[in-house]
Amino acid sequence: MKVTEFVERYAVDRRNTDSVKWDCLESEFGSSDLLPLWVADTEFKVPNAVTEALQARIYHGAYGYSRVVSGYQQAYINWQQQRYQTEIHPDWMRFGTGVVQSLSTLINVLTEPQEAVMVLQPVYYPFMHVIENNQRKLVVSELKRADHHYEMNFTDIEAKIKQQNVKLLINCSPHNPVGRVWTEKELTKLLEICRENEVLFISDEIHHDLIIGERPFISALSIADGLYRDNMVMVDSASKTFNLAALQNNHLVIPNPQLRTRYDNYVQRLKSPAGSLLGQVAAKAAYEEGAEWLAGMLGLIKQNFSYLKQHLEAASSAIEVFDLEGTYLAWVDLSQVIPPNELERVMKKDAKLALDFGKWFGEGGTGFVRINLATTPANIELAVKRLLSVIK
Ligand SMILES: Cc1ncc(COP(=O)(O)O)c(C=O)c1O
Repeated sequence: MKVTEFVERYAVDRRNTDSVKWDCLESEFGSSDLLPLWVADTEFKVPNAVTEALQARIYHGAYGYSRVVSGYQQAYINWQQQRYQTEIHPDWMRFGTGVVQSLSTLINVLTEPQEAVMVLQPVYYPFMHVIENNQRKLVVSELKRADHHYEMNFTDIEAKIKQQNVKLLINCSPHNPVGRVWTEKELTKLLEICRENEVLFISDEIHHDLIIGERPFISALSIADGLYRDNMVMVDSASKTFNLAALQNNHLVIPNPQLRTRYDNYVQRLKSPAGSLLGQVAAKAAYEEGAEWLAGMLGLIKQNFSYLKQHLEAASSAIEVFDLEGTYLAWVDLSQVIPPNELERVMKKDAKLALDFGKWFGEGGTGFVRINLATTPANIELAVKRLLSVIK
């Protein structure tokens, strides 16, 4: 599907629909007349098959307690197998109402209060919040900045794991905000360090369908033919891929039966919700019939990214737009063209843009912005125009 056709068919105005991105601008950024490119959701309607499946379920009219939607696990397993050759057994699957909620639960299942949990910064800020809000010790290893991309600092990771007695590492794969799709070699090395040091591993793979560059995605579950599976939990969701975040459904994949029992005991104690009916109805239809829609969406993100990169870097060699291998989130260093301590004011007051500010993702993100590309080309053109007007 051509980008223009995708936009014509699916772009939708989300103002006045209680959208956080559009309708909370005043409370979050102090002004409602900004162009919002912050929250990681999209400006597009879901595939038609998803709307039809939801309509069919809603017309039934009764929403009593429900079990996991029939055929749901198989639809997810097929999607994972056919697109990524990731093998998932239905017994390994558990359901939650959001990846962040699952991360918070897993921190409680896998670690004790005050124990150390590592993240690789700059990284999606709720990772830090769930660690600290659950009274665990946050340990940070900074990603190393290289030419237009970031790399893991294995020496630092291993040293800090040992020094700080790290018990759990949460990795973002593909990585929000730096846009990396980790190589098999990188993931193998990271997983091996964790195994050798008895560090449990959570792989947040929520962005795994959003592959923009050439490198194919590989799940941590598949590394070395599943050698590290017993040491990990993988969490993901259809919500980023298909714009379903408000329907609150996600998966946890726990291959190790002992870890699964620990998880089950914990959620039973809390009486946690076991997923969302409408979320599962929607995601099942998306996995079964959403591939063509997704191809259209990926074409759009690639086009928006090329436009952004080309125009920003042409305007100033001091702006660095990092390679986008995965996610729909561009990571841009503006520190050489706008003083970092003025960045927020300039973006809000002068450029009239609502973006994620890099420092939210950790100290290393100071002076950066994260730009959500899952919008119309017209919005990206407008954003570039406004950015360039404040840079010049
Ligand atoms: C890496 C990562 N994990 C989790 C989430 C949020 O997932 P959920 O809405 O299911 O809690 C996001 C959203 O941007 C994300 O980027």
